[in-house]
Amino acid sequence: MRTPIIAGNWKMHKTIDESVAFVKELAPKLATYTGVERVVAPTFLSVAAVAAALKETAIKVSAQNVHWEDSGAFTSQVSPMMLKGLVEYVIIGHSECRAYLDETNEGVNKKAKALLAHGLKPIIAVGESLAQNEAGETHSFVGGQVRAALNGISAEDMGNVVIAYEPIWAIGTGKSASSQQANDIIAGTVRASIRDLYGDAVADSVRIQYGGSVKPNNMADYMSQPDIDGALVGGAALKVDDFTELVRLAAEAKGV
Ligand code: 13P
Repeated sequence: MRTPIIAGNWKMHKTIDESVAFVKELAPKLATYTGVERVVAPTFLSVAAVAAALKETAIKVSAQNVHWEDSGAFTSQVSPMMLKGLVEYVIIGHSECRAYLDETNEGVNKKAKALLAHGLKPIIAVGESLAQNEAGETHSFVGGQVRAALNGISAEDMGNVVIAYEPIWAIGTGKSASSQQANDIIAGTVRASIRDLYGDAVADSVRIQYGGSVKPNNMADYMSQPDIDGALVGGAALKVDDFTELVRLAAEAKGV
């Protein structure tokens, strides 16, 4: 059975003080849901303070991006080596980074390999635009993103990889893919691509999240789908009560 994983991607929200106050309030509320992996992804600036605040808890910390080199002349960047010991996860390939920071499939692949080499776990985000969706290109485009991101990654390392399927048209828009639509793409495209590359054992054990306007009122629907193993959440993860409710609903739907 795949352990459900709910991650809050805070994007460019919360100061250091706000981030620490938030997780101090959140941690006790999430303490009982031990069957769900619970992750928060603050900005780089708040990562160390949040990691310190969550030290005695089971809540894990993620970064929102990383460079693939250990160090060097890369102004503004942060390396896997610097994140080691502070975070367990790093989100890479987010559609906002692909759109605004020119993140490429090749870069995502380099980052995934660098993270795995340092014992960190990538959450690799993939997803199609509205135009691609309407043109019927979702399967080929998202499948291509998955294959490119995983190029050269071993079956053994796949145990430390999480994929997040986030249709771009559903992010922050209030428009979400139906749970059936999301499950079909996650099973028929994302997991199927992994099956082609690695076979059944890896495909059946890799966790795949859905992301895009996940809220307490649609969470149960998503989590009742067999191939959706959790959620990557933006807006609703910025509120303690909403995030707690998302984790509770995941635990309930998955029976953990
Ligand atoms: P929203 O939940 O705000 O739509 O954001 C989704 C997302 O981009 C998470 O990475």
